[in-house]
Amino acid sequence: MDDISVGPLDLAARVDEALAVQAVAFGLTPEEVGVRRHIVLRHLTCPGARALGATTPTGRLVGFVYGMPNDRGHWWSTVVEPHLRANGFEHWLDDSFVITELHVHPGFQNRRIGRTLITALTATATEPRSILSAVDRESPARALYRKLGYRDLARNVMFPSAPYPYAVMGAPLPLAQ
Ligand SMILES: CC(C)(COP(=O)(O)OP(=O)(O)OC[C@H]1O[C@@H](n2cnc3c(N)ncnc32)[C@H](O)[C@@H]1OP(=O)(O)O)[C@@H](O)C(=O)NCCC(=O)NCCS
Repeated sequence: MDDISVGPLDLAARVDEALAVQAVAFGLTPEEVGVRRHIVLRHLTCPGARALGATTPTGRLVGFVYGMPNDRGHWWSTVVEPHLRANGFEHWLDDSFVITELHVHPGFQNRRIGRTLITALTATATEPRSILSAVDRESPARALYRKLGYRDLARNVMFPSAPYPYAVMGAPLPLAQ
């Protein structure tokens, strides 16, 4: 990733570019992009919300990550809480930094950009651990998270708006190299 720089991202200002990356990386319909746009902008008003972007020398955004200190009152937390409680992992919701989104444009994947983004974002977290959710199937994302030290805290979690189950994963910080 020699020609790619990773640094702070004004995600509110560049939300459309970020969602264009997510749409092609993760697969979002134009309707879903519209919904996500409101959600991202709302997330960015949460205390401690932070984003990093990966950009080419010409300034094109090709990857991004954002997250925030977990808040049990947030929708995501309320959905995953009973699943973590059932497995004895409810305490992971406290003192935890949540990775909300991580996406790299397919034309730039497999160049360690995703690893660099999530490692750099969590490196400045004051929390001792990080949690996230990922589609509950073997994928580059799941492989990456495991390499960084994330382990399954719950599986088969259905979010009301999603058509497939998710896994909730947690890792101690700092992440493994
Ligand atoms: C997940 C994602 C962000 C990873 O970004 P990336 O820049 O391609 O990943 P990296 O190059 O940093 O890869 C790091 C590790 O991920 C794993 N990985 C990446 N691509 C992989 C692939 N095609 N197959 C298997 N593992 C893969 C490897 O374990 C790799 O480790 P290595 O460098 O030791 O080989 C990217 O694949 C992506 O945007 N996917 C689609 C969107 C998505 O699923 N986002 C996550 C939502 S939870």
